[in-house]
Amino acid sequence: MSKKIMLSGVQPTRAITLGNYLGAIKNWVKLQKEYQCYFMSVDLHAITLKQDPKELRDATYYGIATYLAAGIHPKTCNMFVQSHVSEHAELGWVLTCYSTMGELNRMTQFKDKSGKQGDHIPTGLFTYPALMAADILLYDSNAVPVGADQKQHIELTRDIAIRMNNLYGKDTFVIPEPYIAPVGAKIMSLLDPESKMSKSDVNANASVFLTDSEDTIRKKIKRAVTDSGSEITADTKQSGVHNLLTIQSCILGKSIQELADSYAGKQYGHLKVETGDIVAAAINPIRTEIEKLMGDLGYLNELLKKGAENARERASKTLARVYDRLGFIPR
Ligand code: TRP
Repeated sequence: MSKKIMLSGVQPTRAITLGNYLGAIKNWVKLQKEYQCYFMSVDLHAITLKQDPKELRDATYYGIATYLAAGIHPKTCNMFVQSHVSEHAELGWVLTCYSTMGELNRMTQFKDKSGKQGDHIPTGLFTYPALMAADILLYDSNAVPVGADQKQHIELTRDIAIRMNNLYGKDTFVIPEPYIAPVGAKIMSLLDPESKMSKSDVNANASVFLTDSEDTIRKKIKRAVTDSGSEITADTKQSGVHNLLTIQSCILGKSIQELADSYAGKQYGHLKVETGDIVAAAINPIRTEIEKLMGDLGYLNELLKKGAENARERASKTLARVYDRLGFIPR
């Protein structure tokens, strides 16, 4: 039996946080054997907001280097850049025609992002979800691991796919499922443990980035906000302590309760120093490997070329099927 298909996309950025790593990438590494995987860097989506060309190119490589450094296997997983597979833009257009203004207007990400654009809202920001639907449907994806903020886009993808299946035949598209990661996936801000660790946080001390040096990592975690108590327990109400325990739990694979018990009678200071050590030990080899890969763009280009070839093999079949059903003359 052939494996189920997992696909995900990440915006090209150098600002990949510990939260992104523990909440998303580390899970992909675990799941990669179970699924046939397609992981892409979504440069076409990136330009829905203004980009500096030099930074965009660097960040696109950086995203792929991060997957590799984190342990995504280049022989078994297809890693590629969205713009290298032109089927994305083509199916994206078709799905723009099969989504409605009303649907796209309801997307909370559009509301959030367009609210910050003043009077000059790029049209692409509005049609963004149709392109994302194309990303997913091109590969007959079964599972799409995303954060909670992307769930609405997956729901829309399903609605569009079902609509087209009703019009053009049930086997036009495979209906995808969101894959919401199990426990421990949500890492909170170091400075405000009630809100999620976010790359766009104005205060760089709220997040650990994969680019941070060992020294910076330790400092940031030492400054993490903890609660007014003094005991270390697994109580989720102690959100600052709980966040540090969650980070340790994700890295070490131990339960939060087990970790909390091991800190019985110890101070918050101990917890912070040890969490700093554990995070630094986890990130150091990844950072070093990313730097090594970023110094060998020849290797990355070769890998992306193969990734795009494999991706196109599947994507072109889906696009041909859709074009045929729409009544387009075969090329
Ligand atoms: N919109 C996603 C985000 O901002 C990125 C993305 C683009 C994506 N295409 C995708 C995610 C396809 C999963 C599947 O995080």
